[in-house]
Amino acid sequence: TERSFIMVKPDGVHRGLVGDIIKRFEQRGYKLVGCKVLVPSRELAAKHYAEHDGKPFFPKLVDFLTSGAVVALVFEGKDVVKTGRTMIGATNPLASPPGTIRADFGIDMGRNIIHGSDSVESAMREIALWFRADELADYTPVATAWIYE
Ligand code: GTP
Ligand code: MG
Repeated sequence: TERSFIMVKPDGVHRGLVGDIIKRFEQRGYKLVGCKVLVPSRELAAKHYAEHDGKPFFPKLVDFLTSGAVVALVFEGKDVVKTGRTMIGATNPLASPPGTIRADFGIDMGRNIIHGSDSVESAMREIALWFRADELADYTPVATAWIYE
């Protein structure tokens, strides 16, 4: 079953939004299988955003992500990659519809609170980058049959 890498960025942690963000994914029915707090190294941040290496905003992006603690999360469930991106909203919070995480909590693109994998392939790469296999929990929530038919 599908997994996505979700990360509360330093702005979201400083602003106390971690609980609310986890709550939204839990309420939707997604299963939390990985969770840790860390201050990422520049090497980890650069690898995470490797697709943007060389773009004008890349150095600022790495500075920002390494400026404080992040909360790295893995959620599992049906269509979690695409649905997670829908829940998060557009890259620019001001262009995101109300009800999305970025619209409900953000204004500037460089302070957009949360990361979500953009494809199943990205999710697999990012999960392997941020977590060891033994940091991901394998379990079946008792509510599963009340979330999926
Ligand atoms: P992530 O979930 O963080 O990967 O955001 P995203 O997938 O919505 O956007 P993308 O991967 O294209 O860009 C990664 C991050 O770089 C964004 O979240 C923005 O903070 C930043 N970013 C992207 N495009 C621009 C840009 O054109 N200018 C600036 N200043 N920042 C950008
Ligand atoms: Mg992205």
